[in-house]
Amino acid sequence: MTNAVKLGFGPLSAPAKGSLVVFCDDGLKFGPATRKLIGAAADLVQRAAKSERFTGKAGSSLDLIHPEGLKVARLLVAGIGKRSELKDFVRLGGAVMGKLPKAASEATFVAELPDGPLDAQQAADLAQGARLRAYTFDRYKTRRTNDDAKGDKRSLTVAVADVAAARRAYGAREAVIDGVLMARDLVNEPANVLYPAEFARRTGVLKKAGVAVEVFDVKAMEKLGMNALLGVGQGSAHGSRMVVMRWNGGKKGEAPVAFIGKGVCFDTGGISIKPAASMEDMKGDMAGAACVVGLMQALAARKARVNAVGLVGLVENMPDGNAQRPGDIVKSMSGQTIEIINTDAEGRLVLADVVWYAAQRFKPKFMIDLATLTGAIIVALGQEYAGMFANNDELSARLTTAGEETGEKVWRMPLAAEYDKMIDSKFADVKNTGGSRWGGAITAAQFIKRFVDDKIPWAHLDIAGTGFDSRQNDVNRSWGSGWGVRLLDRLVADHYER
Ligand code: BES
Ligand code: MN
Ligand code: ZN
Repeated sequence: MTNAVKLGFGPLSAPAKGSLVVFCDDGLKFGPATRKLIGAAADLVQRAAKSERFTGKAGSSLDLIHPEGLKVARLLVAGIGKRSELKDFVRLGGAVMGKLPKAASEATFVAELPDGPLDAQQAADLAQGARLRAYTFDRYKTRRTNDDAKGDKRSLTVAVADVAAARRAYGAREAVIDGVLMARDLVNEPANVLYPAEFARRTGVLKKAGVAVEVFDVKAMEKLGMNALLGVGQGSAHGSRMVVMRWNGGKKGEAPVAFIGKGVCFDTGGISIKPAASMEDMKGDMAGAACVVGLMQALAARKARVNAVGLVGLVENMPDGNAQRPGDIVKSMSGQTIEIINTDAEGRLVLADVVWYAAQRFKPKFMIDLATLTGAIIVALGQEYAGMFANNDELSARLTTAGEETGEKVWRMPLAAEYDKMIDSKFADVKNTGGSRWGGAITAAQFIKRFVDDKIPWAHLDIAGTGFDSRQNDVNRSWGSGWGVRLLDRLVADHYER
């Protein structure tokens, strides 16, 4: 990542410099340790609060520069509202980090509320939110403002009651944060840098965490008969790739859980070319694949007690003399033939082969695929929820719950025989669009379903609205959001670890 925050935990004592962040409720009440830290500035805080009409409401704050009586350069008083209503410490950490200017290169958060110190889990959550919020992607900015330059060296200390316990609790979270930031980096990279072979090369770093990484080139995929995937990439100067990542932290021989990502490094639409407006966003059409890589990194780094496989199909969809045409018929690895109606409906073609391959080779406990698949899901759900399609109620319910816990929310959409009929082809077994725009996200899901064995619990997450350019929130200001890493890590942690 290009801009990371150095994070540490320390005791509940007063720092001599930098920014000091403390919390109060909507009665301007502080915890006992905080009161002691503020000490001589207590009266100043009261007066400043009065003239600023700061009452400690959730999300509000009071910013005092060089407060008389304290050594620090800044005292930021953050309101939490009613203590009983505060539950999400990840969000709180992100929100407060967002209140500090980047120039505030050194900060201390006092992890205490009016009713006492945060426990180790809560303090670690606070730290997690702050780190997620502080991420910026500025690798390609050669002229930095002073503000940014200092931002590079930000450090944050979370002052806690029990330093060792907070460090322990933070360990697993750090693995997940690193996975999220890795995914964001991949999504933010431009497509001239991050083409299929380069994406595949970058997955090599997962080996350091103990993940087995295999890269399949065009020849290897031809051998497997992955002509649906290969057809999408055949117009590109960059050869297609598939990467298979395996983490074995579970019982030996136990079936793995499987995650599959759409990795269209750039989607021009191909011969069915897209309009120019916002086409640059299509560098993010590999957000599903980025999530799978970040997730595998997270699971391995925190030594999750699960067997997991991650597979990504990496292609570039370009118009060219050798590009696939509308009307072409390709034979997928499954043996089913596909009529290409629109070359811009390419993600499902990539997934068809990778999902099939994953099931044949790994016989997984479940499969979840992630894809920036359709504009239609954005029309349906906007940028708040990802669309979820599932052939299994239990998996669907677990994903919904994990979504509520992490804030990466999913909304279940229907699958049904009537929609399936819409993708029957005149000439082949199936066609790659529904023929009209109606139910566009559903017909796309129905297409993938034709390549999924119904005995395997499967969920498809359409992340076109959440994977990039998504609504900026307390824990994310990056264009590439890294959406899904925290959701799926939580799903695994809640249900699939031995
Ligand atoms: N990658 C796009 C979907 C997309 C659009 C993601 C906007 C994020 C933002 C996908 O490959 C695509 O082009 N889908 C078409 C399908 C259509 C041709 C059936 C779409 O949604 O218009
Ligand atoms: Mn497309
Ligand atoms: Zn696409």
